[in-house]
Amino acid sequence: MVVSNKKSETKEIIRKARNNGYKIGFVPTMGALHEGHLSLVRKSISDGCFTVVSIFVNPTQFGPKEDFNSYPKPFEKDVELCKSEGVSLVFAPDTSEMYLPDHSSWVDVEGITKGLCGAFRPGHFRGVTTVVAKLFLIIEPDFAYFGRKDYQQLKTIEKMVADLDFPVKIIGCKTVRDFDGIALSSRNSYLLPDERKRARIIPKLWKEISLRWKNGKRNVSELISGLEDELKKNVDRVEYFSAYDPETLEEIPKDKKLEKGPIFALAVRVGKTRLIDNFQPDYDEEPSIQEN
Ligand code: PAJ
Repeated sequence: MVVSNKKSETKEIIRKARNNGYKIGFVPTMGALHEGHLSLVRKSISDGCFTVVSIFVNPTQFGPKEDFNSYPKPFEKDVELCKSEGVSLVFAPDTSEMYLPDHSSWVDVEGITKGLCGAFRPGHFRGVTTVVAKLFLIIEPDFAYFGRKDYQQLKTIEKMVADLDFPVKIIGCKTVRDFDGIALSSRNSYLLPDERKRARIIPKLWKEISLRWKNGKRNVSELISGLEDELKKNVDRVEYFSAYDPETLEEIPKDKKLEKGPIFALAVRVGKTRLIDNFQPDYDEEPSIQEN
């Protein structure tokens, strides 16, 4: 496995792999790798790809009051994990390799980025799409793997690729959860023990929605009645919690009878930590929840 922090070297290694007949599989990350990231890596490798993982904490997707400076950076451990999974190349540029000091060009996907996280993190998706577009131009992957955990991000990247004709196939991969049902996230390390316990309300909500869905409930209000109160009792702030159209991410009115399965999504704050999660009852497995 090669670790490179240079675009030119990375391109050269990938060019050789492609000449040797390999398809290129790409997993963009901000490091602090966990089983969620590794599930994307494993998918790329099992698809037979020359697998490239990028590790880059992208400053342009963080707001001025967000956790860019405190974002965990266990770089050596990340490299070891990549090596043991069979990754071919880790691309780990520093900020100056990715952005000119006077960077002024942006990729901005409209519409789908307006609601949900977009409403609470101005400029976030513009930073994500810009860095992912740049990474796609450097790596030129055949396949790129994204987690459904960040569902709005996945849909935004799909839209960017369709709108701008990037020659890459986006593969969405299911959310990997911890033993207690909480979705794995690099930010979970910020949670204090009491906060972690309170966050366990989230998978419990998904379980309840799953049950109601299986029992034939088909109105948003029937599916989520009482659950926002439960959420509010446990977390410190609810940014959003609602049902959305899984393609457009438009909020579904509470009284609407559903024809197809919605996606339920939320963002909350527990202590200083912002957590996001989602659940699509006709797609996702019910989360398995263990107490200890
Ligand atoms: P990061 O948060 O490091 O996530 C990298 C990838 O791992 C994303 O596609 C994300 O959806 C996926 N992922 C994270 N937690 C997961 C989980 N529990 N189960 C499945 N997949 C999971 O997302 C980013 O980085 C950045 O915005 C990036 C796309 C790299 C652009 O900077």
